[in-house]
Amino acid sequence: MKNENENMSDRYILAFETSCDETSVAVLKNEAELLSNVIASQIKSHQRFGGVVPEVASRHHVEVITACITEALEEAGVTAKDLSAVAVTEGPGLVGALLVGVSAAKTFAWAHGLPLIPVNHMAGHLMAARHVQPLNYPLLALLVSGGHTELVYVAAPGDYKIVGETRDDAVGEAYDKVGRVMGLPYPAGRLIDELAHKGQDTYHFPRAMIKEDNLEFSFSGLKSAFINLHHNAAQKGEDLVPEDLAASFQAAVMDILIAKTQKALERYPVKTLVVAGGVAANRGLRERLAADIKDVEVIIPPLRLCGDNAGMIALAAAVAYDQGQFADWSLNARPSLAFDGLED
Ligand code: KG4
Ligand code: ZN
Repeated sequence: MKNENENMSDRYILAFETSCDETSVAVLKNEAELLSNVIASQIKSHQRFGGVVPEVASRHHVEVITACITEALEEAGVTAKDLSAVAVTEGPGLVGALLVGVSAAKTFAWAHGLPLIPVNHMAGHLMAARHVQPLNYPLLALLVSGGHTELVYVAAPGDYKIVGETRDDAVGEAYDKVGRVMGLPYPAGRLIDELAHKGQDTYHFPRAMIKEDNLEFSFSGLKSAFINLHHNAAQKGEDLVPEDLAASFQAAVMDILIAKTQKALERYPVKTLVVAGGVAANRGLRERLAADIKDVEVIIPPLRLCGDNAGMIALAAAVAYDQGQFADWSLNARPSLAFDGLED
């Protein structure tokens, strides 16, 4: 339990994240002290379908969310009366999945007379970096997840501007799709990363738009090149080397991500680069950032805060709390929420 003598002005935020296939509830103390971050993954239920099934996701969230709240509070050693606010991912994400978190957060906040803080899921990924150290602005962020690939200029806390994004597939989506062709279970990102470290870039896939003077990404051509190579080899009965395939795919992805990030840093000369989202867990990406991004401080959240989790939502909510950004009881799920607060 919380120490009676503890400073009465400590602030505790309870946060919810249910935008996709993880049900997560966290408790954050003050600015960046995560007391708990419970994550119930549903991956096993989706694996046999090769991707997330929205209806299955919603049902799982409903089943486990109450237990996650209890566990998060217990692990943090706080009770509802210690809390200062409730935060929740309002979007983007799967509508049914988001609704479970939004309903739970609203119910909890209403029952305990607490203010509600709506959080953009991608702002959550970005603000996970606050767990490493306080952020200095302006900064640039490379956000790479299963649904998004974007370069974001952050002039000040809460002031986000997308300066470049993918025209087609998100980078995590490309990993998962080529992984499926290779017969790997969903999500395939981490497994491809592991295989890549045992192979060489022998297949030389295309690096789309790498020379173009813009901050846009495209991964569908790379994905098609990979699938075609795989199918042609299968038809001819030729064997491909999985380690080299993975290494070749990952080398192409990293060349593109690094080139566009370098271009963005030339256009927006900042001192801090945040790299976040599920794909920020990638070892190859971390190695390339260390080798190729010079003269800026690169902040990458720890592995457990890279994938979807409520801790990152709480870290973003702490900033929103300071700015007085609260929602009323009409708060709803916003599946296509964009960074500018509008729907895509
Ligand atoms: O951010 P996230 O947990 O969920 C979304 O908001 O999309 O990202 C999940 C994505 C999946 O596509 C997964 O394959 C990818 O992140 N991922 C990785 C790695 N770990 C997870 N991709 C590449 N390398 C990894 N080590
Ligand atoms: Zn995410």
